[in-house]
Amino acid sequence: MPRYAHIIGWGKYAPANVVTNVDLAKKVDTTDEWIRERTGIAQRHIATEKESTALMAVHAARDAIERADVDPREIDLVIVATATPEYLFPATACLVQSALGAERAGAYDLEAGCSGFVYALATAAAMIRSETFNTIVVIGSETLSRVVDWKDRGTCVLFGDGAGAVVLRGSDAPGGVLASTLGADGSGGELLILPGGGAKHPAGPDTVLSKMHYLKMNGREVYRFATKIMAEAAKQVAARASWSLDQIDLFIPHQANARIIESAAKALKLPPEKIFVNLQNYGNTSAASIPIALCEALAAGKITAGARLILVGFGAGLTWAACAVEWTAAKPGAATLRHRVATGKLRFAWAGIKSLGWQISRHVDAVVSKVIDAVEKKPAAK
Ligand code: COA
Repeated sequence: MPRYAHIIGWGKYAPANVVTNVDLAKKVDTTDEWIRERTGIAQRHIATEKESTALMAVHAARDAIERADVDPREIDLVIVATATPEYLFPATACLVQSALGAERAGAYDLEAGCSGFVYALATAAAMIRSETFNTIVVIGSETLSRVVDWKDRGTCVLFGDGAGAVVLRGSDAPGGVLASTLGADGSGGELLILPGGGAKHPAGPDTVLSKMHYLKMNGREVYRFATKIMAEAAKQVAARASWSLDQIDLFIPHQANARIIESAAKALKLPPEKIFVNLQNYGNTSAASIPIALCEALAAGKITAGARLILVGFGAGLTWAACAVEWTAAKPGAATLRHRVATGKLRFAWAGIKSLGWQISRHVDAVVSKVIDAVEKKPAAK
């Protein structure tokens, strides 16, 4: 019997701090009019000092897990798609796994730039369909504000921070993530790159002085690539799901630029009501953009049971990815959701206490081991 991977929970997090185009125009040489015309962006959410990729990922994942009514101990795997991880290592996913109390889960980060969430969704669904795992949390989380040069008007106006997550679960009932396509063209890697801080150019005074710790982008070339690949990837995945283009109910593209989305929609002959756009409020949140858009499309009532969705991402790499999803989850009623949130809060509080307990016990263990070593090495008294 074939196995299917269904999205059973979804959640998002956006920092409360909003920076409008007008705010930005006070800091860099730009205007609200230029940004809106060239990108469609009106504002973006920017993390405060206390907010970063792991914390936002945890908030979004908790939201998704509560909605799905899943015990975190049932989770087999946590994947965090991000280009702005908390550290080079350990993986952000490990920090998230601990905070969620997903004790049995494996955890890893997936780096595929702005395509990361769709890459992760496709691989997670494949692992569920092959019965390797049954319950997987897929998160896209980014703090791009930390790697953007706030003096470079060509890039700083484009990006924002946030996180989105889904819970995927296996079932024999048809539906869910039905098909996917992944692609990469590394020959274009230089077009969108953060050159400093890795093994090639380790962080140091030189990398900072030459601003290599900031994102660099060739906007025009990325634009050309994006307009070509978005429609192509969507067509390919629709064909793999055996859907004709007019059977698509909602197209949820990576939210980078309204003109790129319009050009893809034109090539796919999709009317405006079948395209979800929220980039005016968020800017480009990279791997977080599609799961945030999915949550907002659900909240707006644009997705109902049986809806056929196409999700398409593109970004650094260069990479692209698309998934065809037949929506099967019922939206929990207000009372059910309140109950699930309350149960979730208890579970997460307990997970936090346990994680702290393990950290303390590791410290105590280390101290006791040192004392034992010292006692064993002490020469015997005569
Ligand atoms: N405000 C005002 N002017 C700006 C500006 C800003 N924020 N940024 C650039 N400009 C200026 C440029 O300096 C240039 O001036 P010049 O003609 O005097 O040299 C002019 O605007 C046109 O610049 P250009 O880069 O040709 O603009 P564009 O129409 O290509 O738009 C992007 C620039 C970045 C909006 C567009 O290329 C883009 O969206 N690319 C894709 C980026 C993307 O999606 N990246 C993420 C991938 S996941």
